[in-house]
Amino acid sequence: MLQICLVGDQVLRRKAKPVKSVKKSVQTLIDEMAQAMYRESGVGLAAPQVGVSKRIVVVDVGDGLVSLVNPELVHASGSQLGMEACLSIPDVVGEVERFATIQVTGLDRSGRRIWIDAEGLLARCLQHEIDHLDGILFTDRAIRILSDEEVAERNEVVLD
Ligand code: NI
Repeated sequence: MLQICLVGDQVLRRKAKPVKSVKKSVQTLIDEMAQAMYRESGVGLAAPQVGVSKRIVVVDVGDGLVSLVNPELVHASGSQLGMEACLSIPDVVGEVERFATIQVTGLDRSGRRIWIDAEGLLARCLQHEIDHLDGILFTDRAIRILSDEEVAERNEVVLD
């Protein structure tokens, strides 16, 4: 079972390497990352968070699993402000500005190129996960970190 790396672990600060080809080992990693994400009740997970410095992310904001290898932001517009948290930074919630609408391309689990148009939570989550591949954590971008009291009052928190 994959364990989640926590802030302070240098793997989270490294720029992850592109995947050369989507082999069986990559598919297995994607499956194990998805399992870990669901086990931890997250909405997204990036490979560096499980100690693997490769450009792979999984996301599920409630509309099904999206897995992307070598994801790239190709279009981005507008802005949205919202709350984020991260499985690698327990008990911290912050307010982060993100693009409102994005298009992302990457390879799916079978190595085919796909394009995803996203807005709202899916767009936020994809930006958060792609940041992980570049060693960027949401706390680097947060305009405000919530106090413990504010966190306790919130019953809905985005975890990725
Ligand atoms: Ni995260």
